[in-house]
Amino acid sequence: MVLFGVTGDLSRKKVMPAIYDLANRGLLPAGFSLVGFARRDWADEDFAQIVHDSVRQHSRTEFREEVWRQLAEGFRFVPGDFDDDAAFGNLRRTIEELDESRGTQGNHAFYLAIPPTFFGAVAAQLKEHGLARPEPGQWRRVVVEKPFGHDLASARALNDILGEVFESGSIFRIDHYLGKETVQNILAMRFANNLFEPVWNGNYVDHVQITMAEDVGIGGRAGYYDGVGAARDVIQNHLMQLMALVAMEEPTSFDAESLRVEKLKVLASVVLPKRLDLHTARGQYTAGWAGGEQVIGFCEEEGIGKTSATETYAAVKLGIDTRRWAGVPFYLRTGKRLGRRVTEVAIVFKKAPHQPFSATSTEELGNNAIVIRVQPDEGMTIRFGSKVPGTAMEIRDVNMDFAYGSSFTEASPEAYERLILDVLLGDPPLFPRHEEVELSWQILDPILDHWAKKGRPDAYPSGGWGPTSADAMLARDGRVWRRP
Ligand SMILES: NC(=O)c1ccc[n+]([C@@H]2O[C@H](COP(=O)([O-])OP(=O)(O)OC[C@H]3O[C@@H](n4cnc5c(N)ncnc54)[C@H](OP(=O)(O)O)[C@@H]3O)[C@@H](O)[C@H]2O)c1
Repeated sequence: MVLFGVTGDLSRKKVMPAIYDLANRGLLPAGFSLVGFARRDWADEDFAQIVHDSVRQHSRTEFREEVWRQLAEGFRFVPGDFDDDAAFGNLRRTIEELDESRGTQGNHAFYLAIPPTFFGAVAAQLKEHGLARPEPGQWRRVVVEKPFGHDLASARALNDILGEVFESGSIFRIDHYLGKETVQNILAMRFANNLFEPVWNGNYVDHVQITMAEDVGIGGRAGYYDGVGAARDVIQNHLMQLMALVAMEEPTSFDAESLRVEKLKVLASVVLPKRLDLHTARGQYTAGWAGGEQVIGFCEEEGIGKTSATETYAAVKLGIDTRRWAGVPFYLRTGKRLGRRVTEVAIVFKKAPHQPFSATSTEELGNNAIVIRVQPDEGMTIRFGSKVPGTAMEIRDVNMDFAYGSSFTEASPEAYERLILDVLLGDPPLFPRHEEVELSWQILDPILDHWAKKGRPDAYPSGGWGPTSADAMLARDGRVWRRP
């Protein structure tokens, strides 16, 4: 694997630790080799030491020096800028040497953990230096990180750039949510059981809420985040993928093609509300509290302008025009500096058509719900009504919980472990294809255009649950957001 941007935040915190964890679990072949590429002038040994330190800090599994030593024998570092021809010549020689000395046999994955503006330059260099096309019996793959574009037009341009150099089946777009156990479990839960699917439709489901809430602010990532915002950063990719998995029909099998066909049908059936002003909301965090500490607002963050119009909270209502989902709203929301870090999918059911109890008996009975807890506290909750012990017939909501931690002894691997292994195995079901990416932008673009005309987002205090306009958006439909 060639890791471009090996000195960056993503490589140090996620990619390199996941590679170590795979090695530690015995899942990498002995000849696995890694070439880091970035601008620093490091020797191979400096590189190994620096990666060693970040892996020690961020790996999921226990750090074992002997595993590390064996893995690091296959590490090389190539210094250079992306426009430096000589550096790519050096990269080619390094790879050829590894093919010979470590038996990697011409099978190469290029991981672009770099700002997307450089994808074109790196792809062109790989083509120019004969690194992109495999000889018969070998493979070449390229891995790219979100954001896959800024809107539909730029996503298409990006796909064209990569498509000119790599075959479409060799392009792996990482949406790390798809690597999460709990997300894959949506498919297991829906299609391995007979309990849920009969009620998984508009006859029984009132609405669906998909939430990704973060308690942190933008941290040191002002350069990336400003001008991007919550909808592009999270809704376009993670939340639309979650929605597709929740809403899709059963695929004919679990190969990449069959899954993609079903996800595409969902995305192609999405309809936007006519009044975007009433059925979308966006906000920007102001000063407040997080984790018991006072925190500053978005516009006071380092690197953010005082009048930035970037949203840090976004909520949208989408419809899916299929027989299964007609009339069932899907509410998607995400935000930074909210009350808690939580990602969940809540299927909220209609009330029972008839209650043979007095109104006072059911005062505290809400809607039944299935809540898939994606993170943290991974698992699932089913909420239903139960009689409160006592002489009166009083019915109240109770929860039935499934928690990964108590049902399984093995800890869940990190999403990046699964996804990197899949890249090496050439197994693509958990990677969105360009058609899905483009359809997601097609859904989001009109909302982004609408917001762009409206000036600045609504303010919301850090530590709360978003702007009041988001609450009003649901109240108009006679519903409320869940407070996880
Ligand atoms: N960080 C995250 O949590 C995260 C999450 C999801 C997706 N992503 C995506 O992952 C990618 C990388 O993000 P990041 O946060 O890791 O970025 P980052 O910390 O800014 O790292 C960028 C890397 O690219 C290298 N680089 C930049 N310009 C270069 C050039 N002209 N020539 C050679 N190397 C160059 C840098 O190397 P030098 O040492 O030479 O500067 C550095 O290693 C982006 O596409 C981002 O959107 C990141």
